[in-house]
Parts: sequence; C-alpha cells; structure tokens
Amino acid sequence: MNRLAGKVALITGGAGAIGLAAAKLLLLEGASVVLVDVSESRLRQASLTLGSDRASSVVADVTTPEDTRRYVQAAVDRHGGVDVLLANAGIEGDIQPLADYPLATFDRVLAVNVRGVFLGLQQVIPVMAGRGSGSIVITSSILGLKGAGAGLSAYAASKHAVVGLMRTAAIECAPLNIRVNTVHPAFVEGRMMERIAHGVSPNASEEFRQQTRPLVPLSRYGTPDEVAQLMLFLASDESRFCTGGTYTVDGGMSAT
Ligand SMILES: NC(=O)c1ccc[n+]([C@@H]2O[C@H](COP(=O)([O-])OP(=O)(O)OC[C@H]3O[C@@H](n4cnc5c(N)ncnc54)[C@H](O)[C@@H]3O)[C@@H](O)[C@H]2O)c1
Repeated sequence: MNRLAGKVALITGGAGAIGLAAAKLLLLEGASVVLVDVSESRLRQASLTLGSDRASSVVADVTTPEDTRRYVQAAVDRHGGVDVLLANAGIEGDIQPLADYPLATFDRVLAVNVRGVFLGLQQVIPVMAGRGSGSIVITSSILGLKGAGAGLSAYAASKHAVVGLMRTAAIECAPLNIRVNTVHPAFVEGRMMERIAHGVSPNASEEFRQQTRPLVPLSRYGTPDEVAQLMLFLASDESRFCTGGTYTVDGGMSAT
C-alpha cells in the first residue's frame, strides 16, 4: 500500500479492461488518477465502479493534439502536475489477411495506437520535466515483439512502432529523470479479446479460446489485474533503475 502516495497518474483507455484495473490498483496505492477515454458512457461507468474522490475523468480522443493538450492540462489543473502516464488506449482493428486489409482501418489503428502515444508523450514530457521526474508506461502487446497474429497486420505494426517511440523517448528523457517503458500483454480477458475471437471465428469464439489457450505456456488467458500489477511496478519508484525496457506479461508466450 501507498507505493504511489501523493502521485498523479493519467491513464488513457482508462475506461477499458486494463485501464480500469490499473486505475483501481493505483488508487489503492495512494495515487490520484485521471481516466481518459473516448467513450463517455464507459467513463461514467468506470467512475461509478471506482467511487473515489481521487478519481476523475476526461472524455478525449487521443488521436487529436487538441484533446491531448486538454487531458494533460486537466490533470495539471486538478492536481498540479503529472507523475505517471499509462499510454494505454488502443484498438485492434479488423482481422483480415494483409492483402485484403482495409486502408482506412490501417490508418485508424496507427492513429490511435501510435499517433495517440506520440501526442501523449509530446504533451506530458514537458510537464514531467517541470516536476523533475516521471514514469511513462506504454501498453504494447506480445504482437509488438513477435508476429504471432495472422490477420492483425495493422495492430502488430502499431505495437512494434511504439517500442521505437519508447526507446527514443527513454534515451531523450533519461537526463530529465523521466523513465519510459513498454508492457507486452498477451490474451487478456476482456472486451478486446472477445472482439478478436469473434473476428477470427464469428460463430465459435469459445472454440477460438480453446485453440489459443495451449499457445500460452501457462495454459490460460491473463487478467487485466495481472497486467496492472506490472504497470504499478513500472510506475512506482521500485523500478527506479528501469527505463527503455520491454516487459512481458504473457504467460510465457514470448518464450515460444
Ligand atoms: N486485451 C488484450 O488481450 C490485450 C493484449 C495485449 C495488449 N493489449 C493492449 O492493452 C490496451 C488496453 O486494452 P484493453 O484490453 O483494456 O481493451 P479495451 O477495449 O477494454 O480498452 C481500450 C480502451 O481504449 C479506448 N479508446 C479507443 N480509442 C480511443 C481513442 N481514440 N481515444 C481515447 N480512448 C480510446 C476505448 O474506448 C477503450 O475503453 C490496448 O492498447 C491494447 O492494445 C490488450
């Protein structure tokens, strides 16, 4: 408890499965959290679930510079600064062979998953620099490390791309005492996996789960909380010598 006492955390995709699990955990550890999400209704539900006066939210689209400025400024106005950014908003796009992949979907996936992270970094780094420290955790995926996802070309490209952003930011920001790392989950229970399962096999998503579980050495899907625990470690001072790193939370999948 209290590993983040007095800290301020911004969480994009904060109304989603992993973002909300992270918000719960960071709140428990004493942080104030500002959830950012494009879905107003899900944000409302998330705020009810959290039920804390240290939690607030901003409806924003991470792909636009205006909204990005607005959500960072909201954290500054409400709490005086930002100590932690979980750049976590993401979409999976379509499940289609590369040759048939719709260009508009490709552009949208890159916009949310890469441009959104880039804009977040641009806006938050000066704020953290003014505070003298910070930790940025970008949610990539096992598909940012290996090509395990046939049909998910845009998603895999985007999740590899943020590793490049993370490494550049880690080097640029080390003199500012701002750490930047990526987390790489695989097969986490929640809405996104449901959509991917449905996209691969519309009438047999349970069959998809049965086929994919054996790909994970630990033989199960992960939970949002298990990803959030890794985010907490990287957000906290316990990881003070960790920057520029890629951290898996994937039941061993990246070892295969
Ligand atoms: N679920 C998995 O199995 C899994 C595995 C590896 C990586 N990830 C990554 O974890 C992150 C969180 O995923 P999740 O499982 O919680 O999915 P989710 O769909 O439950 O949550 C994603 C959230 O991002 C929000 N979002 C989408 N576009 C946005 C935009 N333009 N601006 C602001 N918010 C936007 C959505 O409204 C949603 O609430 C994503 O980056 C995802 O790619 C998930």
